[in-house]
Amino acid sequence: MQPIRLGIIGFGTVASGLVSILATQAHGSRAKIAQTFTIQKIAVRDLSRPRVVATGDIPLTDDPFELVQDPNIDVVVELMGGTTLARDLVEQAIRNGKHIVTANKALLALHGNELFALAEQQGVQVYFEAAVAGGVPIIKALREGLIANDIDWLAGIINGTGNYILTEMKKPGAVFEQVLAKAQELGYAEADPTYDVEGIDAAHKLTILASLAFGIELAFSRVYTEGISQVSADDVRFAQAFGYEIKHLGIAAKEPSGYSLRVHPALVTKTVLLADVNGVMNAVLVHGDQVGATMLYGPGAGGAATASAVMADLYDLGRLWQAGTSHFVPPLGRYTADLKATATILN
Ligand code: HSE
Repeated sequence: MQPIRLGIIGFGTVASGLVSILATQAHGSRAKIAQTFTIQKIAVRDLSRPRVVATGDIPLTDDPFELVQDPNIDVVVELMGGTTLARDLVEQAIRNGKHIVTANKALLALHGNELFALAEQQGVQVYFEAAVAGGVPIIKALREGLIANDIDWLAGIINGTGNYILTEMKKPGAVFEQVLAKAQELGYAEADPTYDVEGIDAAHKLTILASLAFGIELAFSRVYTEGISQVSADDVRFAQAFGYEIKHLGIAAKEPSGYSLRVHPALVTKTVLLADVNGVMNAVLVHGDQVGATMLYGPGAGGAATASAVMADLYDLGRLWQAGTSHFVPPLGRYTADLKATATILN
């Protein structure tokens, strides 16, 4: 059987995690499926930079366009981030008939409507489990596990950096800037950490979740967005004294006349589960008409956790490939063709 040939764009913490997971799993209980993949090439920003994981004989290039034009690459794994170059590359890759696996929530929130439509036209898939909540399989949950439900609302902590900062600020003497620097050091923060602290990253993710939950178009510009930069250590401590935690929430709700989409800090009473989600952990509470309330919880950022989600998408592709499909079957549920393009966003 011909292997699935991967081209990876970007070689930061997530891509490094992915390369090591693939190398390890090629020899364990998942060997049969892990060996379906071969990394054909990795596009890096700077060829001279030392690598944290060994790349062996995998060719590196500093020209990402080589990958999207390479007829010997089947799947482009986009882990570079950003919305300009990444958009060009993903668009070209789709036009060249390649499937996409991406962790790029900003790209999907801003340009996903066009990219998904193009992918549908070209008969290729765009998988994006890693784009929301790191290692937490919330995309699959919405598409598969909860497919029998009409979703009424969802609410979640969907930025690990912000939650890490709010958690650390409960400690006496914690200084916002120092805690943020630590989150950057741990590999949680975005390249531009204002995306984390001003709520933009959470708004990107909420856009994606709302689209899947309600079958509406991606509507990033309509998300009410407020971050945690104005939350002081005093706010955090006073909230605690009154029996609350301050949490940065993303909330998407179906209202009688449309949908409301918002991200902002909120007082969460200490007795509910969301209040007890600390550090880099994320949690998404989804309310469906059949299941009621259900919550997914786990690490929302970090190289290995996010690479685990990328791997999950690759294994989905791998299973279809092994099943001998000549082209990929679309993922289940709430797919682009069902989108309500005219949905009313109330914000
Ligand atoms: N900066 C993001 C976060 C990374 O902290 O949640 C994961 O998307």
